[in-house]
Amino acid sequence: MPGGSANTRFAEVRHFDTVTSTNSVAAELARPGLVVVADHQSAGQGRLGRTWEAPPGSSLLASVVLDVSWVWDARPQLATLALALAASDACSAVAGIRPTLKWPNDLLVEDGKVGGILAEAVPGAGVIVAGIGLNVRWGDATPPPPGTSLDALGAGVAPTALLPALLELLEVRLDQDPDALLDDYRARCTTLGQAVRVEAAGRDDVEGTAVDVTPDGHLLVQDETGEVHTVVAGDVVHVRPG
Ligand code: BTN
Repeated sequence: MPGGSANTRFAEVRHFDTVTSTNSVAAELARPGLVVVADHQSAGQGRLGRTWEAPPGSSLLASVVLDVSWVWDARPQLATLALALAASDACSAVAGIRPTLKWPNDLLVEDGKVGGILAEAVPGAGVIVAGIGLNVRWGDATPPPPGTSLDALGAGVAPTALLPALLELLEVRLDQDPDALLDDYRARCTTLGQAVRVEAAGRDDVEGTAVDVTPDGHLLVQDETGEVHTVVAGDVVHVRPG
């Protein structure tokens, strides 16, 4: 895929051996339709200021640049949900494993995290950069808890083998009606119906049952008094009774 992904808006795919972070490179270039892929990141970024570590060649590390007009009615969080669904679809198509989704951005197989998404608006550039880290072929190495990898789950695919399917399936998701996208996300989101604790810096934890995802992609959590809290960002812990 030297140029781009045929029949998609992703007209330019740039592959690097090593970068600091594919999200940072994509944000610097900020061209809608650009995809930045790397074998290794020296400063990979996770959500909530965390780092994202992966040995060279072990993972699909990719960031796409989305024009904000591609993300329905200025609902930027839907970019995370669309990429999460597309990544789960691509794992299913290429590796025969379909991860479920933990709100907002984790791809899970059983309780193991096989991938995560970090989407960020680039101020003044009119674009959103959405990056995915997918643990594909870790060999004898083990992703940090609660991580797992596709090879540990029995799928022997190469990280880059997932990219064409990911871009094609993301194209499908970006063309989808947002209500249908949200319904598909809800159906694959294992957070819904669960007892959860939401942790966020500088705020009291919210505990309750995850009851829905809003049209903006936010999580609704109903506490034991019946009050419903809207969670825009935070760390969700699936709490198991007992
Ligand atoms: C998470 O915390 O779960 C999100 C992790 C996102 C990691 C990916 S790897 C490719 C892209 N570049 C980065 O620096 N981060 C994202």
